Amino acid sequence: MKYVIGVDLGTSAVKLLLMNQKGQLVQEVAKEYPLMQEKAGHSEQNPEDWVEQAISGLNELTDSFTGDVADIEGISFSGQMHGLVLLDDYKEVIRPAILWNDTRTTVECQEITERVGKDKLLQLPKNIALEGFTLPKMEWVRKHEPENYEQAKLFLLPKDYLRFRLTGELHMDYSDAAGTLLLDMEDRSWSKEMCEAFDIQPDFCPPLVPSHAMVGNIKKEIAEQTGLSEQIKVFAGGADNACRAIGAGILEEGETMASLGTSGVVLSYEDAGDKSFAGKVHYLNHAAPDAYYTMGVTLAAGYSLSWFKNTFAKDVPFDDLLNKAADVPVGANGLLFTPYLVGERTPHVDSTIRGSFIGIDSSHNMKHFTRAVMEGITFSLNESVEIFRENGKVIDRIIAIGGGAKSDIWLQIQADIYNAAVIKLSSEQGPGMGAAMLAAYGSGWFSSLQECAAVFLEKEKTVEPIPENVEKYKDLFALYQSIYTSTNQINKDLMKYRNNDEG
Ligand code: XUL
Repeated sequence: MKYVIGVDLGTSAVKLLLMNQKGQLVQEVAKEYPLMQEKAGHSEQNPEDWVEQAISGLNELTDSFTGDVADIEGISFSGQMHGLVLLDDYKEVIRPAILWNDTRTTVECQEITERVGKDKLLQLPKNIALEGFTLPKMEWVRKHEPENYEQAKLFLLPKDYLRFRLTGELHMDYSDAAGTLLLDMEDRSWSKEMCEAFDIQPDFCPPLVPSHAMVGNIKKEIAEQTGLSEQIKVFAGGADNACRAIGAGILEEGETMASLGTSGVVLSYEDAGDKSFAGKVHYLNHAAPDAYYTMGVTLAAGYSLSWFKNTFAKDVPFDDLLNKAADVPVGANGLLFTPYLVGERTPHVDSTIRGSFIGIDSSHNMKHFTRAVMEGITFSLNESVEIFRENGKVIDRIIAIGGGAKSDIWLQIQADIYNAAVIKLSSEQGPGMGAAMLAAYGSGWFSSLQECAAVFLEKEKTVEPIPENVEKYKDLFALYQSIYTSTNQINKDLMKYRNNDEG
């Protein structure tokens, strides 16, 4: 039996999956590392922590593996997107990595848009400038830390830095490069025009490769430290959302997934890169060969529910909380919630908007609030589903993954709000699964990722929408959408009162 490893370099931990040729999970290991959030809006990590924890995790994996390590044929990666790692002449890290969830670059985003124009952004990288993306972070370092920028000779994204340390080779795959704002998305090359506009030299950007490309073997000292064979083939890997999509089988036109994790993502397969979504959703290169995807992001999805539970129902077990919400009728007895706890991305790029409960009356208790939170998060994801539909996509089935797929009541709420059949997988393992599938495909086990998905992925059940609920939710969704326009100015005015709480 042969094996592959999928490494998911996440924001809180690196997760490693060892999969066999039958698509069975043989072993998994997770190793955490800290997040540095020293100033409001800042979010950084020490790249050395990623490397140390990945090596230690690989070591744990091989230690408890009962087979022959020489049978572990391939390894590939999935990584948190957009994070900026700057390297000097000696390929040493210059400063901590600035991560995807760092929001210090609002001014730089405005400057980027002014310098190249929104039309150029939608023509070349096909996305508007958002705080999370990489180019605004480069511009921030150039402006605020000129001594660091001066030393910088090359940039990498998080998983590319980890792979570089394991192999000594410098690469970036299209799916991750697409989140930098420097890629000509359709041409799959670094955009000359974007780079020139920001005075970025061609050798500042690493060589581009497809996600299933073999990019080398691991270094001798890494083989010794991890217990892996020096012969293991290393495949480039992809952005975590692209890998999550592969791991959910989003591999052909018509396939869409809704992921309810800390943040929420609705992602839909695209076979072409020449469409226009006017920057309303992200439009990026897939980690599957020659493919693309569109994606809408709700910043505080599961995070809204965990905030609610931690604040108001700390001692209630999660399942009890959600099960009680099942007794509440559609619309939570006239209570609506918007999940804008940390601002929003899709469809409103707005860092000052905050959440609301609308319609509170004295009949409402914990179960109504819980249901309203679950419905509000799902309405937010449905905004992305509706944008896809407005652009001509047919969405009649959605693969549900993440925490939202673990609860029957939430699966039904999703089916009713999306007005689509919602499918739950029994094989769901997150982005690490997509990385493992890239290694399996790259190793030649299958002739396509689709063929790999047929072996690796399994459907558990399908939840159909209930027509009567669908009608009620259509009405409630329109009311939900009107909350943004009614509250955005109030939230702007409230800004000056925020962050004053010392208690
Ligand atoms: C996508 C994004 C996040 C990160 C999380 O644009 O910023 O989903 O990839 O790791």
